[in-house]
Amino acid sequence: METIEIIRKRHSVRQFKKKPIEEEKRTELTQLANELSEKSGLNITIVYDDPEGFNSALARYGKFTHVNNYIAVMGKEGMDETAGYYGEALVLRAQELGLNTCWVGLTFNKKVVKRLCHTGEKVFGVIALGYGESQGIARKSKRFEDVTSISGNTPELFTKGVEAALLAPTAMNQQNFVVKCNDGLCRIDTRHWSPYAKLDLGIVKYHFEIVSGIKVFD
Ligand SMILES: Cc1cc2nc3c(=O)[nH]c(=O)nc-3n(C[C@H](O)[C@H](O)[C@H](O)COP(=O)(O)O)c2cc1C
Repeated sequence: METIEIIRKRHSVRQFKKKPIEEEKRTELTQLANELSEKSGLNITIVYDDPEGFNSALARYGKFTHVNNYIAVMGKEGMDETAGYYGEALVLRAQELGLNTCWVGLTFNKKVVKRLCHTGEKVFGVIALGYGESQGIARKSKRFEDVTSISGNTPELFTKGVEAALLAPTAMNQQNFVVKCNDGLCRIDTRHWSPYAKLDLGIVKYHFEIVSGIKVFD
């Protein structure tokens, strides 16, 4: 399946079936998590068959049910954007494998997940993982012209890259980013500070790059 198709199909899912994830899929995702950890310097750990990570009043308040698997994205202070970028690579691979996900910044059990951190690390975000009760729903989105600033020509696939960026998950669906293109040179910035702005930026950059082939992440 083309990556843009996988991106179009992905929506946040918060209610999961009890169905366990098959061994082959676990092996593949764990291997990818290890590769990405190695490459980025992050600590990306996948936990299977353990509901404790979402066993908290906050998770119930957030209407999460049967989150028995999750991906914890951890690392040293200041690596927020990197965490978003590499975490999203796992989100899209999971989607391709027929699984569902939801990035979570707040509504997980912090005490439990923090135990997975190595010394000096923090938890940037957690990704709920499993077979969704549904495939989720398409949500409201900003438009192309709301998130772009263009002068001169744009490279081929720029428009498709922006479509992918607009379909990226962002905290509270803020879509707090701008894709700039100046005489063919592209970059993506956040518009204003927010607690998850950098994490969101990494996620958005991954979507844009993977579909357009235009490098925007260092
Ligand atoms: C960094 C980040 C943090 C998020 N934190 C939460 C959260 O704590 N609770 C929650 O229910 N959803 C959370 N979400 C999911 C967003 O609400 C969701 O991605 C957004 O509304 C867009 O919907 P979509 O993912 O279906 O496209 C988070 C998403 C991101 C990217």
